[in-house]
Amino acid sequence: MTNSTRQFDVVILGAGASGLMCAAQSGYRGRSVLVLDHAPKAAAKVRISGGGKCNFTNINASPNHYICANPHFVKSALARYKPQDFIDLVDRHGLEYEARELGKLFCLHRAGDLIQILRTECDWAGVELELGVQVQQVSALSDQKGYLVLTSGGVVQCQSLVVATGALSFPKLKATDLGYKLAKQFGLIINETRPGLVPLVFDNKWLTFCQQLSGVALDVRVSVLSGDDKNKAPSFEEAILFTHQGLSGPGILQVSNYWQSGQGIEINLLPKLDVFDEMIALKEQNLHFHKWLNRFWPKKFTQAWLAHFPMPERLAEVSHETLKNYALFLTHWALYPADTAGYDKAEVTLGGVNVDSIHSKDCQVKHQPGLYFIGEVLDVTGQLGGYNFQWAWSSGFAAAQTV
Ligand code: FDA
Repeated sequence: MTNSTRQFDVVILGAGASGLMCAAQSGYRGRSVLVLDHAPKAAAKVRISGGGKCNFTNINASPNHYICANPHFVKSALARYKPQDFIDLVDRHGLEYEARELGKLFCLHRAGDLIQILRTECDWAGVELELGVQVQQVSALSDQKGYLVLTSGGVVQCQSLVVATGALSFPKLKATDLGYKLAKQFGLIINETRPGLVPLVFDNKWLTFCQQLSGVALDVRVSVLSGDDKNKAPSFEEAILFTHQGLSGPGILQVSNYWQSGQGIEINLLPKLDVFDEMIALKEQNLHFHKWLNRFWPKKFTQAWLAHFPMPERLAEVSHETLKNYALFLTHWALYPADTAGYDKAEVTLGGVNVDSIHSKDCQVKHQPGLYFIGEVLDVTGQLGGYNFQWAWSSGFAAAQTV
């Protein structure tokens, strides 16, 4: 330690969603707080999230919306800081927001309004924020006297060190693996990581099929085909979008969180119908099959579908058995993605710091007092719909209560 070493109660690495929340709440507890980030601007992911309007929480958020090797881990933090707590916070700042389908809340104007709120909270709480700073080395002082952080801006000492450096998705927004490196340095296990909430890419004939339909969206129910475990795979009734690489859209992003390389996905193309019954009725009325499909699908998709999977225009000529099989096919269309579109296109990272060594109450490392991991760096991943930011707020708040 040198004379120029600056002292803080709390140093937070990462000025993203969880780091800023933790900083403000720690500051309000009277702690002196420094937040360090290597990016030139704070909370870059908040700014671009939700198509620039940030889906900042979900009023239905519950532990069931998260994937974690220990599904109980998220319960404590989510219970301590609920979606309504964050809504109360933004209400105090007069943020205008809108409720969309399935409990999602979005900024009405721009995500930057939310960043301003987080920055204001940090100012009011007396937090110091330093951007464009490289974190070079972290070490624990002996006798549990805290931590030293060597940075491009000098040396900082603190009692509590909070790692809020996020995960690997969107490297162009300065995502790095610093959190995982620090976790390893302090003896923590990293659960295997992979891109989540990400488009799926296809090869061969299905790639051509998707490319032909690029830009077409369909309302479907989609799930992962997972062999014996099929009953456990959640299904999502949301839109899918054909792209030049394969499939995207909310339904596909949701399912990508559960998809593993080599698995198939199953799409119900007419999720609101009893398809076999409807086809029998069509057969009896001798109506045009493609016109019936066009009632539910864009014409372009009907055309492409029937070119691949022909069916006579008049179902009167078709046996019940064939109709039954075709109806099954329409509701259980199995496709095998070649891969995901990778971290460049992924909204989140699955896996991360194994939570067995982390106290669920405050996200502190069990064997390393004063060291905390919050937000996405942990092995906690939310479904699409504002759940990931809610985890950032909840875990940031939980850590702030004891740092
Ligand atoms: P976050 O990534 O927010 O912050 C980490 C910070 O650490 C960054 O500021 C980074 O610069 C800094 N950092 C990283 N490495 C560092 C290093 N080596 N040195 C110093 N600093 C370092 N979620 C949701 O709920 N609703 C939504 O609408 C969306 N939309 C969305 C769109 C897109 C395109 C993406 C990529 C992601 C989303 N998300 C989302 C997910 C959400 O953005 C994400 O889960 C949270 O931002 C995670 O918060 P964290 O604080 O953990 O990390």
